[in-house]
Amino acid sequence: MNKTVKVAKAEAELQEILRPGQSIELLKELHILTREGRLNQDSRRKLKQVYHLFQFIEKLLRELPEGGARATLADHGAGKSYLGFIIYDLFFKALKDGHVYGIETWPELVEKSRTLAKRLGFDHMSFLNLTVAESAHAPELPPKIDIVTALHACDTATDDAIAFGLAKEAGFMVLVPCCQAEVAACLRETKAIALSRTPLAELWRHPLHTREIGSQLTNVLRCLYLEASGYQVTVTELVGWEHSMKNELIIARRTGHAKASAAERLKSLLGEFGLASLLETRFCLP
Ligand SMILES: C[S@@+](CC[C@H](N)C(=O)[O-])C[C@H]1O[C@@H](n2cnc3c(N)ncnc32)[C@H](O)[C@@H]1O
Repeated sequence: MNKTVKVAKAEAELQEILRPGQSIELLKELHILTREGRLNQDSRRKLKQVYHLFQFIEKLLRELPEGGARATLADHGAGKSYLGFIIYDLFFKALKDGHVYGIETWPELVEKSRTLAKRLGFDHMSFLNLTVAESAHAPELPPKIDIVTALHACDTATDDAIAFGLAKEAGFMVLVPCCQAEVAACLRETKAIALSRTPLAELWRHPLHTREIGSQLTNVLRCLYLEASGYQVTVTELVGWEHSMKNELIIARRTGHAKASAAERLKSLLGEFGLASLLETRFCLP
């Protein structure tokens, strides 16, 4: 195949994958397209992954009043904000209203995202140099937010994102948790007592298991906490997210019906695992 035919073929393939109106400049900035505006094997996979996650979020946006025409979305632990940018480009850009907020503690990343948004004319995007916890009380954010996302927000930032979503009465929360150390640390502290009390403590006797069960247990507790706080929860796998070991996708939908049985289960589980202190600090039931 000569060079011209090859280029034409690559161009046709790109047009097939791109959504109408999608910003080529953004995709280049996010290194999804090469500088020459081409797709390679790696970027084709990356784009498919991003679309996959976007599809989940797009469905939720369309469920909001007026089909999401005035939607507000806060992305926590935004990093380079590629999720926020893609959502904006594919959904918010066409609206006259609505807003996407990116919350990130790393000032350089916040500055970079601000510059990029300005250059692309993405006027309804703001980037805040705040921790997730601080953002719940920050005057830059409105009292209500429709959708909360947190993709691999480190450690307890996912828990802070849940607390933010509860405070902002978010209609939906889309969470892909990262590693979590808080529960494992508590399990470690009470391990000796637990081992003398129950054979179940064998599940977290070895340090590697303490970490693994700590991480699994954290997500189970988060789901119960959300259900106990008026959300319906689904847990699936973020298929195709091969570059990360952490691909558990938790989607919470606000029903306003706080499930008493979930609160009871949460309390029992925390008691069984010697973690009752987290009821005061982390899982503060209504
Ligand atoms: C693993 S990166 C994920 C970035 C992005 N969400 C993604 O998936 O590409 C986690 C990001 O969360 C930020 N972060 C960690 N803890 C945070 C906190 N408590 N508040 C706000 N940002 C936080 C880090 O600086 C980092 O940029």
